[in-house]
This record gives sequence, structure tokens and C-alpha cells, in this order.
Amino acid sequence: MRQKIVAANWKMNMYYMSGIKLISEIVPLIADEVKGDVKVIIAPPFIHLHSAAQLMYGSKKVFLGAQNCFFEEKGAYTGEISAAMLASLGVQYVIVGHSERRNFFNEDDVIISKKIFRVLEDNMQVIYCCGETSVQREAGKHKDVVAKQIETALFWLSKERMQKIIIAYEPVWAIGTGVNATPEQAQEMHAFIRSLIEKKFGAGLAQETSIIYGGSVTPVNAKSLFSCPDVDGGLVGGASLISSDFISIVKAGE
Ligand code: PGA
Repeated sequence: MRQKIVAANWKMNMYYMSGIKLISEIVPLIADEVKGDVKVIIAPPFIHLHSAAQLMYGSKKVFLGAQNCFFEEKGAYTGEISAAMLASLGVQYVIVGHSERRNFFNEDDVIISKKIFRVLEDNMQVIYCCGETSVQREAGKHKDVVAKQIETALFWLSKERMQKIIIAYEPVWAIGTGVNATPEQAQEMHAFIRSLIEKKFGAGLAQETSIIYGGSVTPVNAKSLFSCPDVDGGLVGGASLISSDFISIVKAGE
């Protein structure tokens, strides 16, 4: 059975105290209310990581993620945070390739591949984001775009390292817009991504790889998206900032 995963991407939201409050609400709610085998990953801004690690300590369901890291090991890179620093705090997952980092911070395939290498090197797992723009979808190029993103970022990995990758399909037009992909659109793309993984790494690994959906997931649409056979949960932005909404979405992944 593939692991179901619901991950929270807080992006650049929540001041220190409000972030602590949110994690303090979420962790016990998940312990009390979520009975199924769904893994929850919370990726807050860096400032919250240390306290979040303490608040999640001992939880069997909630794990700590980071939204970014630098690809160099250490040294004179003012303002950057290394993967090893994150690992030293108890971070187990790092989001790489998010469209906001590709667009606003010019992260290209080379940078993304170096980050993936570094995160895996430091024994954490990667949540690798891919997805097309609305222009690309309207031109019928969405599968080509996603195939290229998957191939360039992941196809150089060994089979062993590929097992540490969670894929997040996040159509750019669905992120933060309130317009989610339909379950049919998500299922079609997830099955396509799984077929790419199968061709390169074999059927066993393709069946084990969790492919989660991101882009305007809400308590209302989560169940229909997560029920698709190839959709193994979600990466949630806006709706992860309200504890009751996030818990409902996690429960939809049970
Ligand atoms: P959203 O963001 O849920 O606010 O659309 C998802 C994401 O970018 O990970």
C-alpha cells in the first residue's frame, strides 16, 4: 500500500506566536481525530521549525518539513539555510521545485537538481513539485511540460534514492486561485506521472511512490480528489492555515 500523505505548506505566513498556536492546535487534534494511516507533514517558515519540532516530538503521525534549503553544504552564503542545518533540527522533508520558487526566485532545473541531491545526501526526503501553467494546458502541452520536469529533476537518481521522493502535482493555475483541478484532471496527470516512473524505475517503485495533489485543496474538494486511485493525498497551502480546515482535509486522506 502506498503511503497517503497530507502536507501543509504555510508559505510566508504566520508570525512567531500565531504559528506556534497553530501547531499546538493541530498536533493534538490529529492525535485525537485522525485514526487512519495518513502521514501529516507540516512545512512552516524557518522561524517556526525549532519550536514546531518540539511540539511534534513523539508524534507518530505528524512530521516536520521545510519549504526550502540551499544546495551548498555550508560556508559563506549569507542568508541561506543548509539541508544539514534543517536535518539537525529534526526536519525530515523538504519541498523542492515549487512553482513559486521557480517563478519568483528563478530556480531552474540545475538548481532544483542540486537541491534534491543535497536533501537526499542529508538523509531527508524530497517533496518534488511539478505542474503546468494555464497557457501550457490550454495549448495541450501539460503532459509534455510535466514529463520534462519529472525527467530532468528525477531520472538521474538511483532507484534507492528515488524511493525518498514524494511527487506533488501542482498545476500553477490552481495554486492559490480557488480553482482546483477536477478529480478527472488530477487522476489523468497522476496516472501519467506514475507511468513515467514505471518506465524509468519499474512497476514496483512506481506503485510505491506517493503522488500528491496541490492547488486550492479545501475541506469541500479534498475527498473527491484524494479518492482518485492515483492521488495519494495533498499539498495544502491556504487551507492549512486554519486548524479545523486542515484537520478536515487530513481526514479526507484517511
Ligand atoms: P494552495 O497552495 O492550497 O493555497 O493553492 C498549494 C501550494 O502551493 O502548495
